[in-house]
Amino acid sequence: MTTPQPTRVDGMGPLEPVPFIDLVAQHQTISEEVTSAVTKVFSEQRFILGDEVLNLESEIANYCDAREAIGCASGTDALLLALMALDIGKGDEVITTPYSFFATAGSIVRAGATPVFVDIDAKTMNLDPEAVAAAVTPRTKAILPVHLFGQCADMDALWRVATHNNLSIIEDACQAIGAEYQGRRAGVLGRVACFSFFPTKNLGGAGDGGMLTTDEPELAKRLRRLRVHGEMTQYHHMEVGLNSRLDALQAAVLRVKLQHLEEWTIARQRNAARYADLFAERGLLDVIELPTISEHSRHVFNQFVVRVRDGLRDRILNFLREHKIGCMVYYPKPLHLQPCFSDLGYQPGSLPKSETAAEDSLALPIFSELTAAQQETVVRGIAAALGRPAKVSGAVVPRPKFLPFGPRVGDEAQRKHRESA
Ligand SMILES: Cc1ncc(COP(=O)(O)O)c(C=O)c1O
Repeated sequence: MTTPQPTRVDGMGPLEPVPFIDLVAQHQTISEEVTSAVTKVFSEQRFILGDEVLNLESEIANYCDAREAIGCASGTDALLLALMALDIGKGDEVITTPYSFFATAGSIVRAGATPVFVDIDAKTMNLDPEAVAAAVTPRTKAILPVHLFGQCADMDALWRVATHNNLSIIEDACQAIGAEYQGRRAGVLGRVACFSFFPTKNLGGAGDGGMLTTDEPELAKRLRRLRVHGEMTQYHHMEVGLNSRLDALQAAVLRVKLQHLEEWTIARQRNAARYADLFAERGLLDVIELPTISEHSRHVFNQFVVRVRDGLRDRILNFLREHKIGCMVYYPKPLHLQPCFSDLGYQPGSLPKSETAAEDSLALPIFSELTAAQQETVVRGIAAALGRPAKVSGAVVPRPKFLPFGPRVGDEAQRKHRESA
């Protein structure tokens, strides 16, 4: 592989390459801890479930303030297990967002049910509760909101629809560990929540891994059974489940990383605030729309996704790529337009807000170890792509409307919340 060379674009020195994510930089800060945790597992030779997984489950339950946590093999499996445990299958409909990673809807189909896609809120890009209410039919069994990019969906409004229609809510919290909605963490905002430990998540393992959380002990019991072929006691199968166990090696790595999650999340939030300042200083807010942070929300920025106005997204995307500055499009084709769902009958134009988001959204580097200089380069690159002046004007610019990050709920606040509930 050739090393990308810095290039000059605006007479202000070279535009250095910036990675979209740098997992090596993060690993370097914890490599000794990880190595000793992994070595311990090798010395014990217990690779499937076991104490490491049990301990991780209890630590994640604690982190999310949930009663139960159940490890499994991936976020995708967590979604499938949640649907199975709620007896959702053939003939049932699950209302969800088309603006998500494929697994959200793929799992519904794998469970035998039908995904019903409804449009998103134009600002937050999360599921629009009014659209959900309008899509409920006698066949609807559940709502599956995604806490997109690290910000919780509008759960109060979704619960109103769910309660009114006797529906379950399954949280797709795969991108949102540590996110909060009105002071409560993702993981306790539905009947059951699904997390992913894919390496690029805020809490990422050394491979695939997933977790479910719930406050319902009976549901937890069923999930534990379903992840091991529906086995009740050895070789006694109550139902047909999956092989979806979490590896002890993954759990050991994740337990080390969980101890750093808060500091990494705060670093992501700092980076988001820094982008807001940089875009304002460069006078780019007429073209770049910053992510909307809802009130009473703690956004954990698994992704920092801006919207680019005036059809200029691809110009910026191509320019940044050409200059080896990391950027991604999440997601270029909404799920309702994927070929495998064509039999559901959606057409271009069916869900216009999701389709617009696919055309104008742009994810920028936000990983915890990103430096101020790298962020400066990203924003300079965008200015150069737009043919904007190289230098910052020097004029005092008002800080953009970028709501504060919301409360970080510590144990004390969580305890009070529980007592008052
Ligand atoms: C919103 C969402 N749902 C589900 C998943 C699936 O998780 P996994 O890749 O661990 O199967 C992901 C992860 O990429 C995701 O971002």
